Amino acid sequence: MRVYGLQEENWDQSALSIVVVGASGDLAKKKIFPALFALYYEKMLPKNFKIYGYARSKMGDEEFRDLIASSLTCRLTDASDCGKKMDEFLDRCFYQAGQYASDADFAALASRMAEGEAPLECADRLFYLSIPPNIFTAVAASASKAASSKCGWTRMIVEKPFGRDSESFCALSDELYRHLREDQIYRIDHYLGKELIENLTVLRFANLVFEPLWSRQYIRNVQVIFSENFGTEGRGGYFDQYGIVRDVIQNHLLQILALFAMEQPASLDAEDIRNEKVKVLKSMAQVRLEDVVVGQYRSRTTRGSTLPGYLDDDTVPPNSITPTFAACAVFVNNARWDGVPFLLKAGKALHSRVAEIRVQFRHVPGNLYRNKLGLDLDKATNELVIRIQPNEGIYLKVNNKVPGLGLRIDTTRLDLTYKSKYEATLPDAYERLILDCINGDRRLFIRNDELEVAWEKFTPVLKELEERGVQPELYPYGSRGPVGAHYLAAKHGVRWG
Ligand code: NDP
Ligand code: BG6
Repeated sequence: MRVYGLQEENWDQSALSIVVVGASGDLAKKKIFPALFALYYEKMLPKNFKIYGYARSKMGDEEFRDLIASSLTCRLTDASDCGKKMDEFLDRCFYQAGQYASDADFAALASRMAEGEAPLECADRLFYLSIPPNIFTAVAASASKAASSKCGWTRMIVEKPFGRDSESFCALSDELYRHLREDQIYRIDHYLGKELIENLTVLRFANLVFEPLWSRQYIRNVQVIFSENFGTEGRGGYFDQYGIVRDVIQNHLLQILALFAMEQPASLDAEDIRNEKVKVLKSMAQVRLEDVVVGQYRSRTTRGSTLPGYLDDDTVPPNSITPTFAACAVFVNNARWDGVPFLLKAGKALHSRVAEIRVQFRHVPGNLYRNKLGLDLDKATNELVIRIQPNEGIYLKVNNKVPGLGLRIDTTRLDLTYKSKYEATLPDAYERLILDCINGDRRLFIRNDELEVAWEKFTPVLKELEERGVQPELYPYGSRGPVGAHYLAAKHGVRWG
């Protein structure tokens, strides 16, 4: 296996062509091209790499380069050579217009790639499918037939959503397997590429202090929280077909749960890690309707200006009951986690933007300070917080004597805030994941069976919500979300962190 970015001597032995399918779209501009530029800037791409944008929109190479240039930043450095690097990068970017279901158009792309790969005959080809899911399989069919590499590897990164229930997932999966092998499919969940999520296994398995506590014996509950302080803004058309459970909970938050709760894998190999994640998902009970709360944001007028509600988005049907907020309690029925509630909460247009894991520990048995100082055990419980974003960090809430002659206890933080500790800018998740795909490292990509089980656990409750027409509880834009989420937490003896 070639490992780019790590072994410079391999750099000129092979060519790499990266095709961004759906290059005219939002994700390509916002995330994929900036990530590719950052990798180039950090010398992580091989010497002979080229990037090809592919979509139906008509444009020439120069227009395409202008489109990319508008989204590139020099966040990695303030060095004066950034402009020069951008120009070098843009010189390697080309655009090919074509239809998604056309072998002939992909063959034309292949000829263009072959010119770019010459004089090297052997090239690796990576296709990033940044397109709506209804055309994934058409592209997989045409690209693999007409544009795959003849002597190097061909890989495809596939974006979520991977279906909208068990049935559509299986259909999508069967279709993809008609054209690609499992080892060619890289199903991306960009949360797995986030620095703090990568660190989760290090925290657990490279420290003695956490792993012994990592079970029902010491942990009361685990909360995985995702909150955004903006609405669906421009993505309402897509979002309304999926809703927050499919958009965030069933994938990003569930993947975090699986990594958090898995047993120690036999090794750090992708298959060992993914085997353990699948076991956690299999041990999970099906999500029950009574353990789910759904909400939808409504407009809010504040200081004379109005923040629009979900239904004010023109691309959303007027009576939509699609949830923009959901909280659910799930249980992993194995020896380690039996009875511990995992609360997953995600919402758009809330009061803050944050993603974090909160681990609340049990009370200290026979706590000496409860009687003496009237310590509130609930407030004084230890809590480990892994802040995924923003202001990445890890902190542990501990009880500490306030210095001085008296005896007072303060609940304070042992705090590892990344920006105070590390100087390096954190790589974007897409940088890590694209590089991993180039290097054939599948650890942070999702295997088919993980998704199969994930859908099995969520499909029945999603169907029930839809068939019963459960009305979401309305919450004002910028608020903390529906009160129902507090009742749900209280029912399971949980206090949201
Ligand atoms: P877009 O809606 O911007 O679509 C990408 C491109 O696909 C468009 O520029 C368009 O190109 C083509 N396209 C759009 N609709 C259709 C259609 N109905 N039929 C055929 N072609 C179409 O998508 P995004 O860039 O937002 O997302 C791409 C993928 O990534 C999706 O699967 C999305 O769910 C996923 N994703 C997106 C995120 C985001 O923040 N945007 C975040 C996480 C995942 P043209 O007309 O030129 O062919
Ligand atoms: C995407 C969801 O997968 O993740 C979006 O489709 C959401 O709705 C986004 O906004 C959040 O990603 P991040 O990295 O900005 O937290």
